[in-house]
Amino acid sequence: MANTILVGAQWGDEGKGKIIDVLTEQADVVVRTQGGNNAGHTVFVGPQKYVLHLIPSGILRRGKKNVIANGVVVDPIGLVNEINGLHKLNVKTEGRLFVSETAHVVLPYHRELDAQREVLKGRHKIGTTKRGIGPCYGDKAARVGLRMVDLVNPERFEEKLRLRIKENNEVLRALGAKPLSFKTVHHTYAAAARVLKPYVTNTVVLLHACLRRGESLLFEGAQGTFLDIDHGTYPFVTSSNTSAGGACTGSGVPPHRMDRVVGVMKAYTTRVGEGPLPSEADEISDLLHGMGREFGATTGRPRRCGWFDAVATRHATMVNGIDELAITNIDGLDTVETIKVCIGYRDGKARYDHVPADDQVLARVEPVYAEFEGWRTPLDKVRRWKDLPVKTRTYLRAISELTGARLGIASVGPARAQTIFV
Ligand code: IMP
Repeated sequence: MANTILVGAQWGDEGKGKIIDVLTEQADVVVRTQGGNNAGHTVFVGPQKYVLHLIPSGILRRGKKNVIANGVVVDPIGLVNEINGLHKLNVKTEGRLFVSETAHVVLPYHRELDAQREVLKGRHKIGTTKRGIGPCYGDKAARVGLRMVDLVNPERFEEKLRLRIKENNEVLRALGAKPLSFKTVHHTYAAAARVLKPYVTNTVVLLHACLRRGESLLFEGAQGTFLDIDHGTYPFVTSSNTSAGGACTGSGVPPHRMDRVVGVMKAYTTRVGEGPLPSEADEISDLLHGMGREFGATTGRPRRCGWFDAVATRHATMVNGIDELAITNIDGLDTVETIKVCIGYRDGKARYDHVPADDQVLARVEPVYAEFEGWRTPLDKVRRWKDLPVKTRTYLRAISELTGARLGIASVGPARAQTIFV
């Protein structure tokens, strides 16, 4: 298989975990390149459900290497818990999981600052996952972050941590929050460092050795295009490049070694947290929540839901260079009589066929809809494209055409088997 970048084409939670798991079969190495444990990728293997936050989904397939590359922000406690959780389920991580020396470390003051800043923002809050992601990337950009290479070097870690806690305690006090105890944090994180040390390595060298051997790489995107720090609905975004370019900077694998970009999108739209969502609609939200669907894998929050937004996915195709689409959660629309698709935005007399950069405009645009007849039959048992109802195929072809990329995969349920290759 070619080297593949997999990205979310919407606001995250597109079902990337499952598609990655399916594509992993043809890959040798699965690589995470951005984000942290704000992500939650749900994978079912038989009846067993796994929710992975930091570790690439390739860990669930035998013989695959898994890399947490330099662009990821690593919460050491979260990572240790995830490793232990996998061990309990008899999934081996030793010799299969590699963590970049230069990945930045999420520390308790990042989480605390994340929470405090959200409180300060009041009704303008972002609705973050409170995992400390923004403050950690902030420290990285400000060149005061700690990296994995610091964490696993005991003297260096102690010295750097002491300084960072001192400075951050000043900020926390000013915000009216409780300062952190250096001793407690150091004790906990030094213990995590001892567990993680064997996994920490130079992943750039490792990935290039894989490339030289002709192994194929799968880059597992986290979050989605509209949460990208540059291309998303700023400021209601995460703090990393979730779009395809992030796979290169976040791993040290150059652009000319990337062969294809797969964009994952739901057959409708969802978003967790605040910010514009032009096609948001109570009717589809109520229906999906009533079915017990669309609750966040990381925070358990109900996701906001809307109709498929083709303006947004077309924009995502442009920004990521999507070659092929994987459309997921199609079965979520099984009972809908008339399915709407947003094909344009209206703002008074102005009409948009692209996503306006001005967040205030995006927040007030009205969707322009096209309507499709629903198939009104369960799809969960369908395994072949030609066995899908004609109305489903018409709908999927239409959203693929509107998005401007070829349809490659249609997913009708969470299990590996519920995947139709088109
Ligand atoms: P942060 O990444 O925790 O800073 O959160 C920033 C925004 O990104 C919030 O709206 C979150 O809900 C959203 N977000 C972060 N990670 C994910 C994810 O994996 N899926 C969906 N939304 C996410």
